[in-house]
Amino acid sequence: EKEGYDHFMLKEIYEQPRTIRDAMRGRISSKESRVALRGMEEFANRFVRANRIIIVACGTSYHSGLIGEYLIEDLARIPVEVEYASEFRYRNPILSEGDIVIALSQSGETADTLAALELAKKKGAMIYGIVNAVGSSIARLTDAGSYIHAGPEIGVASTKAFTGQVTVLTLLALSLARKLSTISNTYFQTLVRELELIPEKVEEILKENDHIKYIAGEVKDHHNALYLGRGYNFPVALEGALKLKEISYVHAEGYPAAEMKHGPIALIDENMPVYVTATNKSAYDKIVSNVQEVVARKGRVIAIVNKGEKAIAGIADHVIEIPSTEEPLTPLLSVIPMQLLSYHVAVELGKNVDQPRNLAKSVTVE
Ligand code: M6R
Repeated sequence: EKEGYDHFMLKEIYEQPRTIRDAMRGRISSKESRVALRGMEEFANRFVRANRIIIVACGTSYHSGLIGEYLIEDLARIPVEVEYASEFRYRNPILSEGDIVIALSQSGETADTLAALELAKKKGAMIYGIVNAVGSSIARLTDAGSYIHAGPEIGVASTKAFTGQVTVLTLLALSLARKLSTISNTYFQTLVRELELIPEKVEEILKENDHIKYIAGEVKDHHNALYLGRGYNFPVALEGALKLKEISYVHAEGYPAAEMKHGPIALIDENMPVYVTATNKSAYDKIVSNVQEVVARKGRVIAIVNKGEKAIAGIADHVIEIPSTEEPLTPLLSVIPMQLLSYHVAVELGKNVDQPRNLAKSVTVE
């Protein structure tokens, strides 16, 4: 079943060009300048008139939810909040009929997420699911939804479900932006065309596997790691850190790059690998200076940059080049090297990659 791969996680990482394509299939056409999610079309009026969208999820799905927030606010201009399902449920949240609650879940069985949805339903909000497992409890409870069509994900560390969720969230944001006329036709077209190119760009990144494995060998003995990113790449930093923690048991934290100076910078010395994603065009100078601060304190910088980038590549210890794309789509690319890196660190350290200690694939207790 692993089809020649050593682990399910690696197989699932490599499936992503296909699973991202599957998440888009029948839902997008640059030729016809069209994006449509059937589940959403049914309730299009409610979406267009929504006061607010609240996304509830846990773990990796929470991180794709954060990217969803950036996408929907940036492109469709609807206010979005993202909450850990467990916190949402127990803090007496304010909900009204004009709100839409979206649950993100690979398994569709996560107890915290399910309980948050039940509460939202009771309070009269419309509930929408973005789920992988067909016919799962969350898929059955929701008023409508969109499957991500990634196929079974076996590795406990979520990879293809993450990129599938982000793809569907991008389609949702684009289709709302189209209905609400919040972005120009030209920009809409550019994003649609670029989104269709993402699978082949992911393929290109996968070719960097040997180089990433080499970097993993260089960093594997450090006991801590910091992940930094700005804007769309901030949630990716959180996801990179979670991937490293859960399968290699190395302590890692993700931060918005600009927050470093408010505390975490005190941790930086020659024993601290710092993973920086610098593919954004906005605030690029700022991230260059964040990296300079790390270098000045002898931190080891592993930079994920666009091909041909010089300023950061020139001072980083290791550089991973990825193809460029439109900024809202960068998470679909920048997360790939992080998945591979965590995988190789865990393998080098002899850990049980597909079934890390203390963790289950779906968490059905609250
Ligand atoms: O099935 P779900 O997406 O609802 O699962 C949520 C989390 O339990 C899950 O993403 C977990 O954090 C993964 N092990 C992350 O790789």
